[in-house]
Amino acid sequence: MDLGFRDHVYLVTGGSRGLGLAAAQILTAEGARVIITGRNDSVADAAKTLGSQADAVGVVADNADPDSADEVVGVAMRHFGRLDGALISVGGPPVGTAMEVADQVWRDCFESTFLGALRIARAVANACTDGGSIAFVLSSSVREPIPGLALSNGLRPGLAMVAKTLADELGASGIRVNGLLPAHIATDRAKELAMLTGGKRPENALRRPGEPEEFARAAAFLLAPAASYLTGVMLPVDGGELRML
Ligand SMILES: NC(=O)c1ccc[n+]([C@@H]2O[C@H](COP(=O)([O-])OP(=O)(O)OC[C@H]3O[C@@H](n4cnc5c(N)ncnc54)[C@H](OP(=O)(O)O)[C@@H]3O)[C@@H](O)[C@H]2O)c1
Repeated sequence: MDLGFRDHVYLVTGGSRGLGLAAAQILTAEGARVIITGRNDSVADAAKTLGSQADAVGVVADNADPDSADEVVGVAMRHFGRLDGALISVGGPPVGTAMEVADQVWRDCFESTFLGALRIARAVANACTDGGSIAFVLSSSVREPIPGLALSNGLRPGLAMVAKTLADELGASGIRVNGLLPAHIATDRAKELAMLTGGKRPENALRRPGEPEEFARAAAFLLAPAASYLTGVMLPVDGGELRML
């Protein structure tokens, strides 16, 4: 099956490592061009691993910064002359219980995880003049609380509903909006979290953690022109961990 990526251009925020970089690898391997972002200079090196400057560009940008959305979309338009969508990932929230997490930590996390993602989605949608596809990297916490990750449990379900709302608002313009709900995908962050929680194997149907490439293939399909009738979908990529349909 041809996913339809040839000549298409996608923004991948949080693309310097982890799930974002794994997705950018699949996108470029399938013929798309990408702009990846991260908060530090390592993003330039990550971009070089994806191909030449004609295929991949790294931009230092923090999703929490109110100017980032317009800046990175501007880079995409100047460098590639078009934009066809985005995979919006970001660093995971700090661990902590609902009883412990301080107000300012909630505010900071809201800026980067929630409002930053929404700003990027809006800027990308405005640049997708010929239809497009936006996918939010969320979490299994959209459907089921994760012990000790109150910030994720509090913010991700709301962002999932914003994604559904955007799907309704943007569908008439040919822009699809979906979400991915990963659990236990073995990125460096996930391994650190697993250490904090005692390193137990995930209790999922497949009885193993997922590999970043396994997440990335699902993300690439949701983004792809080939998935042209999928919008408003929240897709678990969790080895069967979530118990609800
Ligand atoms: N892995 C899983 O199983 C899993 C499960 C549930 C949810 N998730 C969620 O999926 C997302 C990605 O997870 P991951 O495991 O790939 O994390 P990761 O390995 O820590 O990668 C995060 C990426 O985002 C960048 N980043 C962090 N904060 C940023 C910001 N404010 N603005 C722009 N870029 C930023 C990081 O680069 P810099 O640090 O250089 O900025 C890095 O490229 C997280 O939100 C995580 O909570 C993952």
